[in-house]
Amino acid sequence: MSVCVVVGTHWGDEGKGKIVDYLSNQVEIVARAQGGNNAGHTVVVDNAKYVFHLIPSGILQPNSICLLGDGMVIDPATLLEEMDILLEKRGKESLDRLFISGRANLVMPYHKILDNLYEQLRGAKKIGTTGRGIGPCYEDKVARWGIRMADLLDKDNFARRLKPILKYKNLILERIFNHPPLSFEEIFSQYLAFADRLAAHISDTSCLIYRSLQQGKSVLIEGAQGTMLDLDHGTYPFVTSSSPVASGSLLGSGLGPISPLEVLGICKAYSTRVGEGPFPTELDNEIGQRLQEKGGEYGATTGRPRRCGWLDGVILKYAIRINQITSLAITKLDVLGGFPTINFARAYRIGEEEVDYFPFNPSLWDQCQPVYQELEGWEEDISRCRSFSQLPLTCQRYIEFIEDFTGIPVSIVSVGPSREATIMRKEIL
Ligand code: GDP
Ligand code: IMO
Ligand code: MG
Repeated sequence: MSVCVVVGTHWGDEGKGKIVDYLSNQVEIVARAQGGNNAGHTVVVDNAKYVFHLIPSGILQPNSICLLGDGMVIDPATLLEEMDILLEKRGKESLDRLFISGRANLVMPYHKILDNLYEQLRGAKKIGTTGRGIGPCYEDKVARWGIRMADLLDKDNFARRLKPILKYKNLILERIFNHPPLSFEEIFSQYLAFADRLAAHISDTSCLIYRSLQQGKSVLIEGAQGTMLDLDHGTYPFVTSSSPVASGSLLGSGLGPISPLEVLGICKAYSTRVGEGPFPTELDNEIGQRLQEKGGEYGATTGRPRRCGWLDGVILKYAIRINQITSLAITKLDVLGGFPTINFARAYRIGEEEVDYFPFNPSLWDQCQPVYQELEGWEEDISRCRSFSQLPLTCQRYIEFIEDFTGIPVSIVSVGPSREATIMRKEIL
């Protein structure tokens, strides 16, 4: 029995989907545990590209059971669209392996409207959310105004739940934002139609995980977002509204502090961020543009260009501590080919002082000047390398440098988007 939690080490889009797909044939269950369709996880298999927003990236492996866990917020319209794509491209068999937690919260139409109204209100101080209603949905969950998947299973119960909640939401929409109210009948019938199609998949997902572990099987939990987008530990308020860190994944899938636990940190060979907020190693120059172009750094969910910069080692160390990361997967190493030298932020300078930690005080974030360690680059295209020894020596040294700096083994190196472009250095499951 083993549990592996996959977490993003920086601001999301580290390549979690690709690595989860790669590892999924070694486990019985792959589960998402938090977030919603703010995530965009890309998997490339047999030259076909899939972008998953809600369905776990393990679904393309023929035997993995895929769960949308308790801590998620689910927009049923998006989920059904994703299910339809799967049905068309992979057949009904893949949907038979898909289960949705009855405890997961539903993203409702007013959540999306409010997400965008909040952003307008914030103006220049906007967060740069994905506009998918994620924040307002978690806000309702905490305030106990949420509607859960299981509520859809009983029509009368759903009506009883929706009526007072919609009354309250319409007060906010009309009186605060001068927005027309939403119709109960429209939402009610729309969501009942969703329920018709989803009901067969709704179940007690934490129980499925428990049973699988009791039978000695392994489970992979696919984190969404990244450590620095975590509600508690990230660059608040420029964060998402869930807990993408490893402990959030355990909570959101119904697991306790289980042992042993493998925590695989997915770290891009350079850093990126979508949306607003601090980014100490951001390169607002032609190197940043080159990383963006070569790495295809455009959001898988919103298509927004991702801000790019050198790998931030200070944040990497922070992520290792906060998540108790046990090994790393370094992705997109191929994108760094062709740079004569590569920079790696080993510390920050704040005024006269050099610090090796990410400060908790937000007023210092804009003052953090990266202190770089310069490493030799490589010219070769490494995308066809399939073993560590095939990589150019300077490229091997970059990986070994990361291991020395962090004290954590790099178990996986990814050199391209496809499943095959993966170098496994150490078994983790
Ligand atoms: P996620 O949200 O962490 O799953 O990452 P995204 O899918 O949003 O973004 C990662 C992007 O990089 C996707 O387009 C992947 O297909 C791509 N990708 C993943 N690993 C590699 C790699 O090693 N090399 C290259 N060139 N692209 C990669
Ligand atoms: P994956 O799983 C990158 C960012 C948004 C915004 C902030 C808040 O693909 O790595 P939200 O809509 O969650 O309220 O937006 O969080 N964000 C992501 N950035 N990858 C993601 O997911 C993200 N999910 C949310 O851009 O800055
Ligand atoms: Mg993504």
